[in-house]
Amino acid sequence: MDVCLGLLGCGTVGSGVIELTRRRREKIFELTGLRPKITKVLVRNLQKPRQVALADERLTADPEDILGDADIRVVIETIGGIEPARTLILRALAAGKHVVTANKDLIAAHGPEILEAAERHGVDVWYEAAVGGAIPLIRPLKECLTANEITDIKGIINGTTNYILSKMTATGAGFAEALAEAQALGYAEADPSSDVDGLDAARKLAILASIAFHAKVRLEDIRVTGIRHITAADVAYADELGMVIKLLAVGADRDGLLSLRVGPALVPKDHPLAHVNGSYNALLMRGDAAGDLMFFGRGAGSMPTASAVVGDVIEVLRNLKLGVTGQAALLCRPDKRVLPDGF
Ligand code: NDP
Ligand code: HSE
Repeated sequence: MDVCLGLLGCGTVGSGVIELTRRRREKIFELTGLRPKITKVLVRNLQKPRQVALADERLTADPEDILGDADIRVVIETIGGIEPARTLILRALAAGKHVVTANKDLIAAHGPEILEAAERHGVDVWYEAAVGGAIPLIRPLKECLTANEITDIKGIINGTTNYILSKMTATGAGFAEALAEAQALGYAEADPSSDVDGLDAARKLAILASIAFHAKVRLEDIRVTGIRHITAADVAYADELGMVIKLLAVGADRDGLLSLRVGPALVPKDHPLAHVNGSYNALLMRGDAAGDLMFFGRGAGSMPTASAVVGDVIEVLRNLKLGVTGQAALLCRPDKRVLPDGF
């Protein structure tokens, strides 16, 4: 049986989602008994050339074509930003459609509102692609590690800045040149200042810390410094000291007091994070039972992100087949407090 999907956005991520859904359609049917079919795609500009050739998928600039289509059971949001993504997702949920999104801006700022709406309407919201591109992070934290007290999360969770810093380190390239390459490769946000000023990493840290530490973490709770001011001379000086510069996101929970920050850091060359280069991301976590864990993989780009989005779609299809909803609500403890200046 076919299940119709509506896709909001057809840029870097949306194109990858179309391609991967097509490529895996029969495999997904074997796995779930349901065959995903993207029938409509919302864009802003109908005349713009697309990175993927459209076949059965119909382009539209009218959200109503998707939200008002009763055949569409699942809406995939790859527009980005807060509005109109928030309103469109809330409307999709209210119409009884499941939602998969790659939108960390939205989940970091309005996650509770979106998750509560999903619960109210008896549907799911999945957002694995919002953090770490292809790397499974949200579900391992929400589902596999809940027996642990997670005390530390630390890593590289922005592909654009890691690409820039790696390039500056390896070739002596300048900041602007490396940023232009990251943009051309589809890693950067529509407004790349989110990446270079550390906000994208901070949004992802807010999402991860909320789940890992069972706390309500807001973007304002995180001390953020970007890499805009890093020069080739800084990179060369770090090298002389046996270090590399990385933009790190760091969260710690000490007996219910949280410290959260994003900023450039000197990392010794023999540290595992020093070897994470290009658009790769890596996250170290420490749990009291699990001990140290390290997650590594491509953190940005069309197909790596599509891998996470389509993985979420498959979960939705599994649930549809079973007639259940499967996105557990976030566990939240009232006793957790974020320290304004860390510790
Ligand atoms: P793009 O800018 O490449 O694509 C955005 C798409 O959304 C475009 O097709 C655009 O239409 C459409 N769009 C934008 N505004 C509107 C609107 N008001 N109405 C209708 N359509 C609209 O972004 P990305 O694909 O790079 O990113 C999408 C999301 O995925 C973001 O939330 C981003 O943070 C997230 N993400 C991105 C990753 C990456 O590596 N790029 C990795 C992980 C997550 P048109 O083409 O006509 O302009
Ligand atoms: N702009 C983001 C990054 C995309 O560079 O990591 C992936 O979330």
